Amino acid sequence: MYVCLCQGVTDREIREAAESGVSSMRQLGKELGVGRQCGRCACTARDILKEARTPD
Ligand code: FES
Repeated sequence: MYVCLCQGVTDREIREAAESGVSSMRQLGKELGVGRQCGRCACTARDILKEARTPD
């Protein structure tokens, strides 16, 4: 599913970024461009990032 339409970034890409060490929205924006345009994806992206970094 696309999370960030402006940059065409999917939830999977965000999870992959989290696995490779991305831990903040700022970093995610730098790596994938998420949240850098309209910002509408920020909430969802943050949730996915948080979820991906929570050990189960
Ligand atoms: Fe991510 Fe617009 S949807 S910046």
